[in-house]
Amino acid sequence: MVYHHSRRYSVGVHTLPPHYTLTPFPTQTQSNDSNVKDIFGRIAPVYDELNFWLSWGQHGVWKQMTVDWSLAKSGNLCLDLCCGSGDLSFLLAEAVGRKGKVVGVDFAAPQLEKAVERARLYYPSFHFDWIEADVLSLPFPSEHFDGATMGYGLRNVSNIPKSLTELWRVLKPGATVAILDMHRAINPYVYGLQQWYLANVVVPVAHQFNVAAEYSYIAPSLERFPQGKEQVSIAKQVGFHRAVHYSMAGGTMGVLVLGK
Ligand SMILES: C[S@@+](CC[C@H](N)C(=O)[O-])C[C@H]1O[C@@H](n2cnc3c(N)ncnc32)[C@H](O)[C@@H]1O
Repeated sequence: MVYHHSRRYSVGVHTLPPHYTLTPFPTQTQSNDSNVKDIFGRIAPVYDELNFWLSWGQHGVWKQMTVDWSLAKSGNLCLDLCCGSGDLSFLLAEAVGRKGKVVGVDFAAPQLEKAVERARLYYPSFHFDWIEADVLSLPFPSEHFDGATMGYGLRNVSNIPKSLTELWRVLKPGATVAILDMHRAINPYVYGLQQWYLANVVVPVAHQFNVAAEYSYIAPSLERFPQGKEQVSIAKQVGFHRAVHYSMAGGTMGVLVLGK
């Protein structure tokens, strides 16, 4: 499907089967957003490997749980917001099968390029669209998608209510969305451990990959991020009739499950 206002993205598209598209969409980003976009563009080459090491391989389990909570099923058209290099998009593709389709959206082109390449190599018979766009202003019609996921994206957007409002708009009535993210632990001991891990493991390991400065953004982003209860309240205010937050990994991870 070609979305309104979209145009073809040239990088690598000529090497791809017809159902792969990578499409930019004109975005109006605020300065905070441009920062985030630059960070994720710069870390794209090492992002997947670092995720694996820093989560002890657990991020794959949390992502699979997220897709299960999204209730995506065979034949669905599903959206993966802030898709990055595509981890959740690929798990969603397995859930919707070859009769369904997954649309991945991200504003960092280097991340999308990795997603396109991974899809070509490992998921050649599944259907994807890759859209370069800001999730605060989605280039899709209203009531378009059967379901959605978002992994480690909500914490990074500059306006959470706006992001959830846009998501609500593009979902069909009855759709379910599952949003995975890191959280700051509520338990003071776990919080202490989390802070220690970020300062003494995450940043030094990232330093080995020459991206220490980029990974230092995680600690302040956790401080700003609303906790589960507040997320539920924002989601209900923007129109989701069902909102439940599930805490995982000692409260350092969480999944917000929403129903339209
Ligand atoms: C931590 S990565 C997560 C990638 C992937 N979902 C995963 O779980 O591995 C966050 C992604 O969100 C994207 N992002 C952040 N804010 C965005 C926005 N306003 N619009 C589109 N993408 C955004 C970044 O470019 C980045 O690729």
